[in-house]
Amino acid sequence: MSVSFLGGLAVDVHTHVYSNRYITLLQNRTAVPRIVTRGGQDRMLILPGEDTDASTSSGRPIGSEYWDGARKLAFMDGHGIAVSVVSPANPWLDFLPAADAGPAAVDINEDMEALCAGSGGRLYGMGLLPRDPMTAAAELGRIARLPHLRGAAIGTTGAGKGLDDPALDPVWAAAERNGLMLFVHPHYGLGNEVMGGYGHAMALALGFPFETTTAITRLILGGTLDRFPGLKLMVAHAGGVLPYLAGRLDACVAGDAHSPVRLRHPPSSYLRMMHYDAIGYQMPTLSLLIALVGADRLLFGTDYPFFPPHVGNAELDTATWHSPTVHRAILQELEPQTASAILRSNAMNTFGLAVPASA
Ligand code: URA
Ligand code: ZN
Repeated sequence: MSVSFLGGLAVDVHTHVYSNRYITLLQNRTAVPRIVTRGGQDRMLILPGEDTDASTSSGRPIGSEYWDGARKLAFMDGHGIAVSVVSPANPWLDFLPAADAGPAAVDINEDMEALCAGSGGRLYGMGLLPRDPMTAAAELGRIARLPHLRGAAIGTTGAGKGLDDPALDPVWAAAERNGLMLFVHPHYGLGNEVMGGYGHAMALALGFPFETTTAITRLILGGTLDRFPGLKLMVAHAGGVLPYLAGRLDACVAGDAHSPVRLRHPPSSYLRMMHYDAIGYQMPTLSLLIALVGADRLLFGTDYPFFPPHVGNAELDTATWHSPTVHRAILQELEPQTASAILRSNAMNTFGLAVPASA
């Protein structure tokens, strides 16, 4: 990578792939989530209810940028990203029956390891998990033995009942024991009944972060981090709106005379125990997070290949993408040391990464 980039090379901790075997699973389905071909173009319909709203029912285009490692590397080269920690995108294996989800997780996590192993040190990965907690805990033990994997994505519903479900304790224990990061990412949206009519904008801009906000709040209020203080969690999209509402949450818990919450600390103090991608799209969001949790908890991310520029598929690899460009520009407003920590060194320390000399 010879071009010099403002602020130096980055490490991207929020960037997705769907492995070939996962794509086949979606292509073989007849209900959402699924991939359909319309007018010669593959389109994904993965979000709940996406097919029933006229403004979203044509889905979103999907091409090899979602699974081809060479295309990810081209994007990284074009945006000054030396190394990426790649994660499987939503909706993971949530739609599969339990008997199929365990073996599918093994296959897809092996695919992820192979992709990263063949990348010349440019890619590390996160796995995905079946919903059943005991099978997920066993899969985390396997992931820990795959040399390029550093953790796993986990949806906001966990095993289906939310992240405060006591049945998830074996999952938290396995992640904590193995030093693996769990990446909490939305898929279902919250308030979908009031998000329709405007394409994907309201569901992705508001419904996704609202979903993350309630999921992490339940995780905190359920005492997960009192029971598993060494658990490594990374929260998508700058923590949703929870950083903005953290003081109010403390006040509402403390002010509730009949509260069943029994935590060692005020709820907001647990936010400092987690990591966040810096995908907030504006400086005030990043400033708030830094003030609340510290810059050492923030990590540069892009959400590639979602939110592509409006160019033909063939031009995607050479186009300028909005997310990496705006997030790199925001970081330039910070002290250089803070900016470079968020851009790369926090990720290298948190995930135990080496940046290849050739990058
Ligand atoms: N849309 C999705 O479905 N997933 C993402 O991660 C981002 C946008
Ligand atoms: Zn994402």
